[in-house]
Amino acid sequence: MKQNSPKIDKIQFSRHNPLISTIKKRVLLNKEGSSKNVFHIELDLSQIPLQYNTGDCVAILPQNPTKDIELILSFFEIKEDIKLIKSLIHDCNIVKATKKLLQLTYDHSQDPFLKKVLTTYTPKERKSFLESIDVPTLLETYKPINMKPSEFLATLQPMLPKFYSIASSYLADQQSISLMISTFVYSIGEKTKEGLCSSFLCNHASIGETNISFYLQPNPHFSLPKSTSTPIIMVGPGTGFAPFRGFIQERVHNSDHSVNWLFTGDRHSAFDFYYEDELRTYESNNNLNLVTAFSRDQEEKCYVHHKMQEHSKKLWSLIHQEGAHIYICGDAKHMAKDVTNTLYEIAQNHGNLSHEEALNYYKKLRSEARFVLDVY
Ligand SMILES: Cc1cc2nc3c(=O)[nH]c(=O)nc-3n(C[C@H](O)[C@H](O)[C@H](O)COP(=O)(O)OP(=O)(O)OC[C@H]3O[C@@H](n4cnc5c(N)ncnc54)[C@H](O)[C@@H]3O)c2cc1C
Ligand SMILES: NC(=O)c1ccc[n+]([C@@H]2O[C@H](COP(=O)([O-])OP(=O)(O)OC[C@H]3O[C@@H](n4cnc5c(N)ncnc54)[C@H](OP(=O)(O)O)[C@@H]3O)[C@@H](O)[C@H]2O)c1
Repeated sequence: MKQNSPKIDKIQFSRHNPLISTIKKRVLLNKEGSSKNVFHIELDLSQIPLQYNTGDCVAILPQNPTKDIELILSFFEIKEDIKLIKSLIHDCNIVKATKKLLQLTYDHSQDPFLKKVLTTYTPKERKSFLESIDVPTLLETYKPINMKPSEFLATLQPMLPKFYSIASSYLADQQSISLMISTFVYSIGEKTKEGLCSSFLCNHASIGETNISFYLQPNPHFSLPKSTSTPIIMVGPGTGFAPFRGFIQERVHNSDHSVNWLFTGDRHSAFDFYYEDELRTYESNNNLNLVTAFSRDQEEKCYVHHKMQEHSKKLWSLIHQEGAHIYICGDAKHMAKDVTNTLYEIAQNHGNLSHEEALNYYKKLRSEARFVLDVY
């Protein structure tokens, strides 16, 4: 990229008009013996003069797996319908079956069980049936005949993008966007399925070859304080660490003296200590106060919020006296709630606040964008 090439107007890109890149680098971050598969991925920006901010996300439009497309195509007469194939790969959600597809499959199979689902199941029971099956499995199980591609496509929901936190700072790296992605598998009946977008990026896309359609999803609330002298407290276990890699890169780039606290970790220190060398270097250069929680290194679970309790006095001083900004990123269901409750407890114990006063204290910090969450 030329130094002075004009920057792309990121707003003009969207689901219907994405940017196209390829994967430049992909590295499994877990060591052998781990029960997880979390990848570091770099999208190539060398041909795309796109400027991003730390805390922003990318929205990725995945491609459906070839084996699922082939299975679906086997239910149609015309196998070389390029438009249909393209649409199936890029535009249709084949993970979620719809009621319309259920009806169409019944119309073309007369299957008695599907009739029962359509006519006697309550809406809740039908929803739960639809959640237990995906599009290829529905067709494979009930074998509709003589369906028209156009009527089939009309029953599907559109493919929606998946969001990933950017794990790099534009100031430190203008040639790529780093991501940190966790893969997982789940079951549909006896079949093992992979998460669509995570496995597209981590397992199926070929490095330097497969087109990756994406656009930038700005996240202006989840941004660094204006002043490098304002301390920051980052809490992000697992892939929740992703945006903080960008935050730390940027803070270190801008100042050698910023105060940066990070609470992170995953299951085992021996296998799941992501970016350990980088973090240790920041630590030894006094750029980072690193506190790790490895949940499965000992019998009792040790989570980031347990470690925050151990440092509660210092945390309260950073928040209350030094005006620290607090960031939480990662799992919304349990982690973010436990961490937020721990912050309330810290305010109650060290600030002598009642529970209600503690809630109001953080409510005010949130309204001032000094306490922000990016959870999923
Ligand atoms: C703002 C934002 C930022 C995000 N940042 C990141 C990030 O930096 N890194 C990252 O890895 N992810 C991140 N995510 C999550 C990511 O967007 C996807 O949701 C995730 O990768 C799963 O998508 P998929 O297409 O792979 O799985 P899908 O194909 O959508 O999953 C299929 C189904 O499996 C279910 N399922 C079963 N087990 C699991 C499980 N263990 N985990 C998840 N789903 C399961 C899901 O509910 C889903 O219905 C972020 C989400 C948001 C909203
Ligand atoms: N709904 C969706 O579609 C979707 C999609 C993608 C990801 N997700 C979720 O996003 C999250 C991110 O996944 P990830 O792979 O990055 O890691 P993760 O599952 O969040 O795990 C990271 C670490 O956090 C620990 N942890 C578990 N409960 C916790 C709690 N209450 N407080 C603090 N730490 C806790 C885990 O410990 P243990 O494992 O030992 O308990 C592990 O050590 C996951 O929860 C995942 O299921 C959801």
